[in-house]
Amino acid sequence: MKKMFVVSVLAAASGFVQAQTVNVICSVQAEWCNMIGTVYAKTTGTKINVSMKGSGEALAQLIAEKDNPKTDIWFGGTGDPHLQAAELGLSLEYKSPTLPQLQSWAQQQAQQSGYRTVGIYSGPLGFGYNTELLAKKKMQPPKTWADLLNPALKGDIQSANPASSGTAYTMVATLVQLMGEDKAFEYLKKLHANISQYTRSGTGPIKAVARGETMVSISFVHDAPGEKMNGFPIEAVTPTDGTGAEIGSMSIIKGARNMDAAKKFYEWALTPAAQEMAAAAKQFQVPSNKAAKVDPRVPDFKKIKFINYDYAKYGASAERKRLIARWEKEVNSLPR
Ligand code: G6P
Repeated sequence: MKKMFVVSVLAAASGFVQAQTVNVICSVQAEWCNMIGTVYAKTTGTKINVSMKGSGEALAQLIAEKDNPKTDIWFGGTGDPHLQAAELGLSLEYKSPTLPQLQSWAQQQAQQSGYRTVGIYSGPLGFGYNTELLAKKKMQPPKTWADLLNPALKGDIQSANPASSGTAYTMVATLVQLMGEDKAFEYLKKLHANISQYTRSGTGPIKAVARGETMVSISFVHDAPGEKMNGFPIEAVTPTDGTGAEIGSMSIIKGARNMDAAKKFYEWALTPAAQEMAAAAKQFQVPSNKAAKVDPRVPDFKKIKFINYDYAKYGASAERKRLIARWEKEVNSLPR
């Protein structure tokens, strides 16, 4: 009797008697993942387990877990693998009442997936460069995709690997749309000669640029201001000949064990306040909720030459698999 009393008093005092749990795979940078984890737990009393994975790796995990999902929510990462997850039946159809408050590209992402994913942010692909290293070599920053083929950059460019990283898959899909597929692969083979390494994570290359480990990276340009704020000599540009943008997305996992908690988290993540946490964590994508404040460091889309990225096509399962396999076979296997 006495023991039971102690237990119930402790439970009531801790406030966690009814606590829900939500398991999140987070595919943005650690600072943002940690911030949403901490703030969400504090403000809602929910126990939140956050595991960090690049977009391609997250999809691979969800495929592996399909019959016994351990994940409730997949937060962030490029939209193509979220569309693939939708097509594979890994994510739940869910029409958020918040949809009308979102930018048209975020709503379009939802429609294209049969409401199995939704856009939470967007950002353009481009190049990061270390201003000090370039100055030392007396080189100009790259302006076009062709500039990356300059032999003077041999061994000085980093990109991520498109199999694990959504950033790098966005690069492959962008080049295919910009140049036509065969020309894009010719380009990627030439670029390969200048690449020092293909990192697992999409942000590996821009962090290497910031720290002076490589001169140039192929990266989302919204990841540059955060490195600059940390005091590194870094700038970023978008290629003048055209580039693609990601629609960073979020999906509820079909068969999630904590479905109620998953939906609550999902709704929270679409609010302006939650979306403004990106900039607070030094990540400068455009938020999808129209009412969220846009930080002045967010790249100005009006000044960027965009291709008309076909998300449905390049987020289709067969197409994504085929392009990654072709890249492995024809590009990654080449000697450097
Ligand atoms: C960074 C960017 C995100 C992007 C993500 C993709 O976190 O800030 O906008 O969605 O990288 O990561 P990945 O490792 O899949 O390329």
